[in-house]
Amino acid sequence: MGEKPHRVLFVCLGNICRSPAAEGVFQHLVEQKGLSGRYVIDSAGTSGSHRGEAADARMQKHAEARGYKLTSRSRRFTEEDFEKFDLILVMDQRNFEDVEALDYHDEFRHKIKYLTSFCQTVKASEVPDPYYGGSAGFERVLDIVEDASVGVLNYFEGLPQNTN
Ligand code: 4NP
Repeated sequence: MGEKPHRVLFVCLGNICRSPAAEGVFQHLVEQKGLSGRYVIDSAGTSGSHRGEAADARMQKHAEARGYKLTSRSRRFTEEDFEKFDLILVMDQRNFEDVEALDYHDEFRHKIKYLTSFCQTVKASEVPDPYYGGSAGFERVLDIVEDASVGVLNYFEGLPQNTN
C-alpha cells in the first residue's frame, strides 16, 4: 500500500506485433496474480510508421487463441519514456540500438534490457520479427513472451528466477 507502481514499457519496431503481445501477456499475468494496481504497463515502437493502429490482426488472432485480448494502439517511443518507465524491454538488437541512440547522455542505459534476458526455460536471444512470416512466427513470439513475462514478474516481486 502506498508504494509506487513498477512501470514497464515493452518496445519493438512497429508496436503492432511483438510489443503489443508482450503488453497483453504481461498485463494478463499481473491481473491473474492480483497485482494489477502495482504495475503500469505500456508498449511503444521505435518506428512511428504504424501510429494509431491496433495490433496486427494475425497477432491478435494468435493471442486470442491463448486467452489474451490485445487492446493497444501503436505509438512511437519517445525520450520522455526514459523518465516515465523503470524498465524498457526491447525485442531485438535493432530495437536496443534505436532506443539506446535516443539516450544522448547515457543516463538511462541501465533501464534498457532485452526481454529475452528474463526467459525462464525458453532459449532465445531475441524475439524475432514475425511481420513478414507465417503463423509459426506469431506462435514463437507468444512462446517467448509468456516465458519471459514470468521472469519479469519474479524480478519485480523479488522472487527467484532462472538465469541463463
Ligand atoms: P513489430 O513488427 O515490430 O513486432 O510490431 C513489425 C511491424 C511492422 C513492420 C515491421 C515489424 N513494418 O515493417 O511495417
